[in-house]
Order: sequence, then structure tokens, then C-alpha cells
Amino acid sequence: MGTLLIRNGRIVTATDDYVADLFVAGDRIAGIGANLPAQADRVIDARGKFVIPGGIDPHTHMELNVGAAISSDDFETGTIAAAHGGTTTIIDFATQARTGTLRAALDGWMANAEKSVIDYGVHMILANLPADALREMDTLVHEGITSFKMFTAYPERLQLDDGTIFKAMLRARANGGLVMLHAENGSVIDYFIEKFLAEGKTTPNYHPLSRPHASEAEATHRVIALAELADAPIYIVHVSSRYAMEEIRAARARGVAAFGETCPQYLALASEEYADGSFAGARFVCSPPIRERANQEPLWRALGDNTLQTLATDHCPFCMTTGYQGLPAQKELGKEKFTQIPNGVPGVENRMHIAYQGGVVQRGWSMNRFVQVTSTAAAKLFGLFPRKGTLVVGSDADIVIWDPQRPHTIRAATQFMRVDYNPYEGTAIAGSPALVIARGRVIFEDDQFLGRRGQGEYLKRGIAALT
Ligand code: URP
Ligand code: ZN
Ligand code: ZN
Repeated sequence: MGTLLIRNGRIVTATDDYVADLFVAGDRIAGIGANLPAQADRVIDARGKFVIPGGIDPHTHMELNVGAAISSDDFETGTIAAAHGGTTTIIDFATQARTGTLRAALDGWMANAEKSVIDYGVHMILANLPADALREMDTLVHEGITSFKMFTAYPERLQLDDGTIFKAMLRARANGGLVMLHAENGSVIDYFIEKFLAEGKTTPNYHPLSRPHASEAEATHRVIALAELADAPIYIVHVSSRYAMEEIRAARARGVAAFGETCPQYLALASEEYADGSFAGARFVCSPPIRERANQEPLWRALGDNTLQTLATDHCPFCMTTGYQGLPAQKELGKEKFTQIPNGVPGVENRMHIAYQGGVVQRGWSMNRFVQVTSTAAAKLFGLFPRKGTLVVGSDADIVIWDPQRPHTIRAATQFMRVDYNPYEGTAIAGSPALVIARGRVIFEDDQFLGRRGQGEYLKRGIAALT
């Protein structure tokens, strides 16, 4: 690793936008200024291009074992794809088994994650909270795992009752952790699933009908109320509809430390994708499901006005075709019954593109807002700022040179994600990353991967900086 001088770029952070040179020494930013006199191993001309902090995707599921299937991107393929799209940090999830410890979950996850080509952190999913697990939460916070996801859905594997969620919130309040909630009403969803299957309604279009938006809004309201009672901050993951989003807006208006993310699939796709009842709808089976088109604009506005802070992907790809790249059956497991379709969609490679096209190009966001939503907010909420999420002397040299004159069309045939389709197939994006630097190393240049397996580092995260 040597030195890099990026000349004449338009340096954009969440707050600044100016033309300057940026000097990288080793894995850090070592200087920013006008006409830096520095000599460097490599000089890059970034005139007419944006120089922005590498993206942070705070919600991915690489090689996630959901029982019948394992998500098709492992930490190597998934992080290469992330980097291609301008994301240089992911935060993934380790999942406690119902009868297991947090430590066991973490050890398994760590062994997989070391293949990553970009830096990675981890949230812990809590599936059971005996006294020992509550104590383990404190230990994990000291080890840099400062966020804990819980579920109000999936009764068999993950759902926790309100009392247990409340206890975890109190513990997080005491140890500085941030609770994250997957908010859907699991009991109501189970009622609809049972009803539809009994009526012989087994095709993918019944997936969204079994998970109505009111079941998400109800659970969102409930967990925010619990957080308010516990006086603990709360982060709602994958907000899919305007109704859940409005619960967060109302909470924030009354002073509750409620935060939220949405995902590209909820901004750019609509439930019409499921409409014909064919198995093609399985491509879009994720939870919460993709909603009616009328939700898209309110969600874009919420990201724009800080009701929602982050854009994450919930990247959890499963192939449609059995045998793709030698992988076993995935989405096809649900051919006979929509409940057997592994839940999740790909997107880690497309997140920045969709934010740029939908936010900057089509809705007039400033580049500052683009950076805030795709990088800075996640760095602050998940204890990585200012090491990540900005461009200042001393921060990691995670840098994207984004070329507004470099169009890109999203296509499964040319993507790096290891999955046989793309939900945004054919979407044209006006600009794209020309060069991606991860901790001082150029890992993508003109769509060529130049990094290597295992060069990403585990990120010991700090406590959330709540904004
Ligand atoms: O369908 C989804 N979202 N799969 C991933 C697991 C989760 O709930 O985030
Ligand atoms: Zn979830
Ligand atoms: Zn998820």
C-alpha cells in the first residue's frame, strides 16, 4: 500500500462540497487541500467527478442460512458486488439460535466473514434472552457489536414477546447498545398464511397479501412505544410502507429517539410485480413485502427530510434457477407453496445507483444528502464515525470517485452479485463509480475488480452517535 493523490475532484461529504486535492498515505486520508504539493505513487485526475466517502450498507445477509437454503452471495462475492456499486463497508447480522449463545452465533459468523474484500461489522440478532444472554449483550458492546436486532415476526425461529423486547431495550439503554426491530405482527401474518393455504392459495402473490401494511404499522407503533417506555433509542429496519414510516415520523415529532431505514426495493419496485400470480413473483418475495406504488414517493420524501436516516439493502439473494453456478434449489423450493420461498432480494450492488438516480437525478437531492443517506448516517448510528462515513484527515481512505458522466444500466448479465436475476433489470443510471478505493487500495477501476479475498477488516464499532 503506497500513496495516492486524487487531484481536482469535487469533494462531497454530508456537509461540504468543494474542489480540492486529496492525499492518501497507506490506509488513511493524510491531506486535503488546494494544489497539494505532495508526490504520490499514483496521481488520479478527478476533474469533473465527485469524490465521496465509500458507501456503508448497514443491513446485509451474506451466506445467511435460513434452514432450507443459504443466501447465494458469500462474503467474498457479496462484498465484491458491494464494492462495484460504491459500497466499501457492510454491516451484516449474526443470528443467535433459539437454544444457543450469542458467542456461538458470533464465532460462526466471524469464520464466514473473513473472506470479505471490504471492511465489515456485525449486528447481533437476539432470538432468546435468558439472563446469560443479557449479560452477553454487555460483553458484545465492549467488543464492538453495539446493535441488536429483534423480531416481532417469524414465531417459530425469531419472534420475541413484548416483555422480552422491553427487557433487551432496558439492557441496551444501560450498556449503550442500539436496538433494531424487524416490525411486523407475526401472529396476524400466521393467521393469514394458514387461511390462504387452507383455501389452496399457494402462489407468490399471496405472500404480500399475508403480510399487510397494517401488520407492519401496528408492530412499528408497538415497538416504538416500548422503546419510549424504556427510554431507549430504536432503529426500525427495512421500512416498506408509508404507514410504518408515519409511525416513525410521529414518534420523532414528539421527541422519541426513533430512527429508520428503507431499502431500494421499497423505493423502486411495486407490488404489481406479484400481480399475475405466476412463479416469477418469487423474485420479489421478501419481508416486509414490496408495497403498492403509492408508497414510493412518501418513502423517498422521508429519506429526503430525515424521517428515515439510512438506505440499506437487506441484501439477501436467492436464485430463481436451480443449479445456477452449481448452487442448490433456492426460490424454487417454494414452487408449490409461497411460504417455502426463501425470503429476500439482491441489491447490495445497486443501492448507490438507485439512490443517485432516484434521489439526485430525479428528485433534486443535493450530493450532500446522497452522501448522508448512503454513508454518513449509518456511520454515525452504528458507531463508525468519523473513521468511516466522511472524508477528513485521519479517516479511513474509503473513497469513491463517482463520475456523473458515466452511465450504467443495471443488468443481471453484467452484475457481480452471485444471483441469476436483478430486480431492477434494465434500469438506466446517469452516473456511476469510476474508481473505488477501500482503505487506500484501488479495488475497482472501470468495472474491473482489483482487490483480493480477505482484505477487508472486522470493524470494532463504537456507541451510536444519535442525530
Ligand atoms: O426477506 C428478508 N428481508 N430476508 C432477510 C431477513 C430479514 O428479515 O431481514
Ligand atoms: Zn428483517
Ligand atoms: Zn434483513
